[in-house]
Amino acid sequence: MDLEEFVVNPRAAYLKAERYLNSGSPSGLSQRYTTSERTQPRSSTPSFELSIIRFGDDVALEDVGDRCDRYITDGCMLVHPDMLQSTYLPERSVYSIEGTVAVAPTASGRTVLVLGADYFVKLAYLEYLGRLVRHINREMVLSACEVTKQLVLALESKRVTPAFGILKESSGRIAHIPKGGLGSSIASLPMNANSCYEWGVLFREFRPFPYANDRELLIPFFALFSEEFDPRIGGAAAVQDTPLIIQLFEKQNKSIVEFLLENILFPLFNTYFDALLSAGIELEAHAQNMLLAIDTRFAVRRIVCRDFESAGRDIPVMEHVGIPYSLHGDYKCNTIRPREPGHKYEKYYITHSFMFDFKLGEYLVTPLLDVVNRYCPFDGAALTKKLKEFNRQFIDRLPAGFFPPDWCSYENVNWDRDRRPREYIWHDNPRYR
Ligand SMILES: Nc1ncnc2c1ncn2[C@@H]1O[C@H](COP(=O)(O)OP(=O)(O)OP(=O)(O)O)[C@@H](O)[C@H]1O
Ligand SMILES: [Mg+2]
Repeated sequence: MDLEEFVVNPRAAYLKAERYLNSGSPSGLSQRYTTSERTQPRSSTPSFELSIIRFGDDVALEDVGDRCDRYITDGCMLVHPDMLQSTYLPERSVYSIEGTVAVAPTASGRTVLVLGADYFVKLAYLEYLGRLVRHINREMVLSACEVTKQLVLALESKRVTPAFGILKESSGRIAHIPKGGLGSSIASLPMNANSCYEWGVLFREFRPFPYANDRELLIPFFALFSEEFDPRIGGAAAVQDTPLIIQLFEKQNKSIVEFLLENILFPLFNTYFDALLSAGIELEAHAQNMLLAIDTRFAVRRIVCRDFESAGRDIPVMEHVGIPYSLHGDYKCNTIRPREPGHKYEKYYITHSFMFDFKLGEYLVTPLLDVVNRYCPFDGAALTKKLKEFNRQFIDRLPAGFFPPDWCSYENVNWDRDRRPREYIWHDNPRYR
């Protein structure tokens, strides 16, 4: 893919990058567990219709956050088409279709961009996508909105790097569906205390916050270093352009190391730690959740973070740096609990390494550096030494012992589906701290 495409037609280039410039997650599971043929990100179908459905009177709808009516008709719900064809929502007896909206999938499959509009819809998907069944219950919607609120406060306070931006998730809707109102697969779904299944949807803005006055072009991080996929042949495109990260480098007047450190990696790590230190938020900063914003002259602007339903709220850090918070339940609240049998550390510390060393390090930074090294060789050891020195300033401000001395990864296994306990693999010498 040619970097210039982002300037000529930013929206089309963005969608192309989301869909066809992605070698997939390092686990390989993103290609194996995806949505149906015509709706999956790698499909050759350019878009599909999302049904706007109205449930019967036995289903209660609840709105969370700011004005859902900006995104969806009152009394209605948005549901992925695969869910209407499955045993989850039985034939039209329990709902009617009020209309449709045209959308294109992003790399996560269940988050779609509404065509001609400035927002994404993150949909519940009651089957495996990647490693997980993607429910969206009430707690998850509340958590995403709360995380957004905390990040907005931090960004407005200007205590964070100007290189930090987010895609706000400030509203969502939940349908409380009584057990009897669903299809035969319902027995396996989690019910709430009122014997209802909570079927949620989240809305995400397209325009990065803090809002910029001029145009910014968004590139998902995975697209900076991936191979281009050709949906017509169902494999890697025969002609591959130079990776976008190299094309971007060639537009600058810097050495490769200066470019990597000053334009990409320092802002990236600074953003990761600012989220923690200024908002108590632990981002799931893998290459699908992070985006790079550039301007129309190819200057790097900022790091843009998304997916706040996946972000953790670190209670001890919030207390350590004095951030007020409200929890609304336990979802993704990371706090110190007793060590689980067979685990090397308390989960609280495992999560810190997992999110930083594995998700940010191994899913994003290492593959990015490997690709750059292939095209423009540089001294990797000297670069990682600089990164470690840079990161030290933030780690020193976190509670002592925040990170374990070693780092963890896990196998490319679908734990839930294979009914295996989640096992972490421990390694010496964290690469980036
Ligand atoms: N390069 C990639 N790296 C990581 N995950 C990827 C990648 N490409 C596709 N995926 C898919 O994206 C999803 C990542 O999971 P995650 O929980 O971050 O996203 P999500 O919550 O489903 O959606 P969103 O990020 O839009 O909020 C998984 O379904 C995974 O299979
Ligand atoms: Mg994601």
